[in-house]
Amino acid sequence: MKLDNYRVVITAAGRDFGRSLAIRLADLGAEVFLSARSLAAAERVRDEIHDRGHQRVHAFACDLTDPASISDFASSVARHTDRVDILINNGSRYLDGPDLQSASDADIIDTISSGATGTVLTVKRFLPLLLNSDKPDVVTMVSACGTAGHHRSDAHDAFYAAKSAQAGFTEILSKRLRPQGVRVISLYPPDFDNADPLSEEWKTTPRESKDPLTGQSLVDCILFAVAQPRDCFIKAFHFEQV
Ligand SMILES: NC(=O)c1ccc[n+]([C@@H]2O[C@H](COP(=O)([O-])OP(=O)(O)OC[C@H]3O[C@@H](n4cnc5c(N)ncnc54)[C@H](OP(=O)(O)O)[C@@H]3O)[C@@H](O)[C@H]2O)c1
Repeated sequence: MKLDNYRVVITAAGRDFGRSLAIRLADLGAEVFLSARSLAAAERVRDEIHDRGHQRVHAFACDLTDPASISDFASSVARHTDRVDILINNGSRYLDGPDLQSASDADIIDTISSGATGTVLTVKRFLPLLLNSDKPDVVTMVSACGTAGHHRSDAHDAFYAAKSAQAGFTEILSKRLRPQGVRVISLYPPDFDNADPLSEEWKTTPRESKDPLTGQSLVDCILFAVAQPRDCFIKAFHFEQV
């Protein structure tokens, strides 16, 4: 798939899966507006993409727990482009530990704020730019933890709360934005292996039925969903765990 005519916003692209997405989508020709909590992290990934010969990539700071930072991010992107075709809500803080008492109040607030409030405010701020696109998609990296009844993860209860909030938000958003042609696509992966897209491992990681889910396959799911004709509103990807 070529993404030459796509302008894509990705949150939390300074490392791990967000970085993988930024690098792969830029490789496919997209103009990428990537953010990370620290500007330095975003600029490092921007420079990695520049080094691959892609100049249409821009780096921004965005702390998803800070409404002003989200607003600044959207305003800064709007100074470069009058439309966004794909918004990828990738950012969300992880919090480990199945014991409710194990996390501080501050960590609980930060986890729910980055994943839940941060996602709602990011979509709110970028919606005007999405509505200027003729192919607008909102993609959200939820988690199996956002599936009703899920209990297999050792993530903290606050992470379950954040992911359940993302799931509830995207569920209603999908229905409410459909009349305006905005597709809302959510992924509910279990733990997955995320190889460095610039390493040999990215190409050689086994992806057979006995293997755990990979970041490569999740990138492929996103590309599949956004490539469908506009009457095809794929709402969600759920995955059988090994
Ligand atoms: N990896 C998995 O197995 C898995 C499974 C299911 C779902 N997911 C979801 O998929 C997405 C990407 O996963 P991942 O493995 O790449 O996540 P990760 O390794 O846990 O990284 C979390 C990302 O979120 C960023 N972040 C945390 N708090 C933030 C804040 N307040 N403002 C802005 N950014 C913030 C981090 O930035 P810093 O570098 O600044 O900390 C980092 O880039 C996440 O939404 C995650 O919940 C992951």
